[in-house]
Amino acid sequence: MIIAIDGPAASGKGTLARRLAAGYGLPHLDTGLLYRATAAALLDQDRDLRDVDAAVAAARGLALTDFDEERLRRREMGEAASIVAAMGPVREALIAAQRNFAARPGGAVLDGRDIGTVICPAADVKIFVVASPEARAQRRALELAARGEKFDYATILNEILRRDARDSERSAAPLRPAPDAVLLDTTRLNIEAAFEAARRIVEEKIRR
Ligand code: DC
Repeated sequence: MIIAIDGPAASGKGTLARRLAAGYGLPHLDTGLLYRATAAALLDQDRDLRDVDAAVAAARGLALTDFDEERLRRREMGEAASIVAAMGPVREALIAAQRNFAARPGGAVLDGRDIGTVICPAADVKIFVVASPEARAQRRALELAARGEKFDYATILNEILRRDARDSERSAAPLRPAPDAVLLDTTRLNIEAAFEAARRIVEEKIRR
């Protein structure tokens, strides 16, 4: 069974994907990490984030297993990843790794922006997670506070809106729900309720 979870920044899709993967005993790939690691490699080489050739080389050179998640999940890396991810050739360079992961025997859970539309258009279950920008900014603020990072709510909300715009308005695999995706609005749901709703969507698909 392949489960595709897409949605905007801080929608909760990562947590849902992790929990669904644990619940169904499936491997999980957070595809945002691939774009974050590509951006991190460029920054390490002092390259411009819009240098397509360098970005493609960095994407091709990624090892899926040795990510420094703590560094990659920092705020500024999300922004850098969003810039790198807007370049078509970079996305092309990362397709095979994602599809290979999805093709594991037994299936997999992948989360990102284009899993249901481009990477796994034949996924068994597609969930598109949404939440209001304010709810997402609030969650991100709590996360950062828990990690002891300094933040300012207005700045976080602005970053989320900017990232939404960049991820949805780009021409290469823009963020949008697949026609057969089930929409899950988590604005008013806590993580338990959101997980329950996601689990029901999966069970309903299995039942059919
Ligand atoms: O999910 P995330 O916040 O870790 O993703 C970081 C950026 O990477 C996001 O702003 C857009 C890009 N991304 C993408 O374009 N396609 C994906 N499948 C996953 C992430």
